[in-house]
Parts: sequence; C-alpha cells; structure tokens
Amino acid sequence: LPSDEALLSLPKAELHLHIEGTLEPELAFELADRNGVALPYASVEELAARYEFSDLQSFLDLYYATMAVLRTEDDFAELTRRYLRTAAEQGLRHVELFFDPQAHVSRGVALEAVVDGISGALAEAERDLDISSGIILCFLRDQPVESADAVLSAALTRPERLLGVGLDSAEVGYPPELFAGVFARAKDAGLHTVAHAGEEGPPAYIRQALDLLGVERVDHGIRAAEDPQLLARLAAEGVPLTVCPLSNVRLRTVPDLADHPLLALDAAGVRVTINSDDPAYFGGYVGHNYLAVRDALGVDAATAERFARTSIDGSFASDARKAALQ
Ligand code: ADE
Ligand code: ZN
Repeated sequence: LPSDEALLSLPKAELHLHIEGTLEPELAFELADRNGVALPYASVEELAARYEFSDLQSFLDLYYATMAVLRTEDDFAELTRRYLRTAAEQGLRHVELFFDPQAHVSRGVALEAVVDGISGALAEAERDLDISSGIILCFLRDQPVESADAVLSAALTRPERLLGVGLDSAEVGYPPELFAGVFARAKDAGLHTVAHAGEEGPPAYIRQALDLLGVERVDHGIRAAEDPQLLARLAAEGVPLTVCPLSNVRLRTVPDLADHPLLALDAAGVRVTINSDDPAYFGGYVGHNYLAVRDALGVDAATAERFARTSIDGSFASDARKAALQ
C-alpha cells in the first residue's frame, strides 16, 4: 500500500469542498471576538466537543450556527487562505469550492463581500501556490426556490466570477426537481452545474439531478451503489462522483469506513473522486481522506493515483491546465 507521503504528494483536485466547512474552532473564536459575535459555546474545546453528529441535519445545525462569525470580506479571505495553505501541503493543485450565499445574505452580509473575499484569496493562491480554482454557488435546497432565484439573479450581474452552481443542505424531502427552473437559468448563463444527490437521499434524486438539472457531476452520489441500473448509466455517461469518505462516516450515511461503497462504485466503472466536504468538522482534509481509504479499504497506489487523476480530469479546468497537472 502507498505511504502517507506518496498519497499526500499525488497531484490532485478537490471538487467537493464547502469553504464554510473549513472553519476550524480556533478561527471561529478569533472571528467571534473580532466581530463581537456571541457563540453559544464557552471555548474552542467546548465547540470541538460538539462535532459528534447523528445525521446530516445535526451537522447542518452546528454548521449554520457557527458560520455566523463570518461577517466581512476579510473574514472570508482569511478562511479561504487557511484552507488553501493546508490543501497545498496535501498535494492539492486545483480546487472548485462551494459557498452558500443564502446562509450569509440572510444574516445581512453582502454577496459581494463573500465573493470578493473568497476570490481574493484564491487569486493569491493561483500566484503563490500554483493552485488553480473556481467557485461554485450552491443553492440551499431546504430554502424556498424563490430565494435561490433571487440569489442567482444577484450573482448573474457578474456571471464571469462563477464557475458554476450547485445544490446542497438538507436533502431528504427536497428533491432536485424543485430547482429545475433555477438550474436552467444558470445553464443559459453559461455556468457549469453540479448537485448533491444520493448522500442521504434515494437513487431517484440522482436520476432527477441528471435528467432535470442536467448536472455534469454528482456530489456524493454514494446511494447509486444500491441501484445497478443507475450505476451502469453513471459509468456509461462518465459522470464523476465527488465522494467524501470521512464525511459519510461522520454523518452516518455509512456505518463504518470499512463498509463504504467507494470501491464498489469504482468496480462498476463509475468515475470516482475523493474529497473532504467540510474538513474542519469531519476529521480531515483531502489528504486525510486518501489515507483513511487506504487504511480502511486497502486502496492501493494504482487506484489512488487513478482517483487523483480522475479528480483533475473531472474538474472544470481548461484542457491546458489539466494537461499541465497530469
Ligand atoms: N452543506 C455542507 N456540507 C454539506 C453536505 N455534506 N451535504 C449537504 N449540504 C452540505
Ligand atoms: Zn457537501
């Protein structure tokens, strides 16, 4: 099996990373102090002790509460800078990061502050760390469609700043079909499209994401493993899945890493990538996810290299950039 060093140094892309999910407890308290925001936890230790989740919703409750400390452009820039520093140490060369504007605009933070802060830090990393990047605006599927429409309209005043749109937050009860119109508008504006589907939700949600949203990748998608016909379709169409192994264990969508369908998806010919989702909350950044699947599933060097190559191939980077990274 490959060494830690071999896995960490593999050139890789991260395609499933919520920037708000990189907010470590230490930075949360720094920003809470700086911004005069009261966190309902007495200390870094007390906050970190809450990182014990029973399902997606129990995580989301803490995730949305803690991100209230993010208020200014500089907060978003600092958050992104810290993520990129860690990511660079783990072989990351390209990142397409998610952000949740509705969760900020609803607290009175301007969309511009969010986008400018994140984009500023990404531009520094392109220059200083040779990490290429783009940002994907995610709609919160458990908020009204009108709210998604409004944030898309605001973002489309400067569409060139976005790589694409995605769909996240509580999945069950909020099927992709609700967002068909919003996604059609985003596509018409030339944006790429992805969606979380089949994390907690059924395989039918993955089909809807493909058929009704026209997504180019599926985020998570692990419940496709229950549906042989869907697996065959994903393989035939070459749709990449952005799998997040440590996240799936922490949110109990799989009982144990040893039971994770990663290798079953791969064996079915599906294009699999490995990602960290919300690394501050789930016990590790992208490299840690590679180490964890080696240890729990026996992922060998050739397979890990293939996953890393797929992450670059399955990205929305230019052909020239992909060639430079392979
Ligand atoms: N938002 C942040 N992380 C998420 C996840 N794993 N699933 C859905 N929404 C999210
Ligand atoms: Zn996610």
